[in-house]
Amino acid sequence: MSAGVLLPPGYQLVALDSVDSTNEEAKRLAGQGAEDGTIVWALEQTAGRGRRGRSWVSPRGNLYASLLLCPECPAPQAAQLSFVAALGLHDAVAGVVPPMAELACKWPNDLLLNGRKVAGILLESRMSGERADDPVDWLIIGMGVNIATFPEASEFPATSLAAEGAPALEPGALLESYARHFLVWLDRWLNEGFEPIRTEWLAHARGRGEAVTVRLTGETLQGTFVDLDADGALVVETGDGRRRITAGDVFFGGR
Ligand code: BTN
Repeated sequence: MSAGVLLPPGYQLVALDSVDSTNEEAKRLAGQGAEDGTIVWALEQTAGRGRRGRSWVSPRGNLYASLLLCPECPAPQAAQLSFVAALGLHDAVAGVVPPMAELACKWPNDLLLNGRKVAGILLESRMSGERADDPVDWLIIGMGVNIATFPEASEFPATSLAAEGAPALEPGALLESYARHFLVWLDRWLNEGFEPIRTEWLAHARGRGEAVTVRLTGETLQGTFVDLDADGALVVETGDGRRRITAGDVFFGGR
């Protein structure tokens, strides 16, 4: 199944036909001592997971993959890697969509194609150290891209590459491209820190300067999306001042 999929040096590919969740499999492999750079890829998931406890419908034809990393840094810094992944995914998808298509990043790590969600990222990490500045044991960056199909009924309007006019694409080909682009941005992050990642992400972000509604656990706030801060938090100007959002769902416009 992995025949023909060539990843750059530094990656180890675990290619599966079907799995519950590539993030879960990556976690199991991490527990067995899998190396930094392990990518778990499956043609379908039977229990794919999204952010904030949602499920991720995962039929054949789309891309489902999880990258295991062991960055030697504390959790807040490791979390910046989700933006590195978002840029890698952005650039990979930009290479296959029609020229006039509008591709944009949505906080925290979604990719929108013509205003609809085409890809999502799920970041999970484990830390066994006791101090806040201890390094994470591992970080898993799971990503799903709707290549051929998308769920009709979902909280956020969704789409697929095919529905927006992209030519037919094998999931393995998109995985190869993502793996290459991820390395480019990882190199920038390792050498220059988060600032170039933040700047590039903002350059592609949808809705900066516009009204957003942010749903947090137990609270919904409205304001203007003004910035992404140096830790990757969304900065929203509200009637009560600026708020830093570290976890939540963003909707464009007032609700
Ligand atoms: C989101 O809610 O936007 C994040 C979706 C992440 C889905 C991917 S598919 C591969 C990996 N395995 C999972 O179970 N989830 C992620």
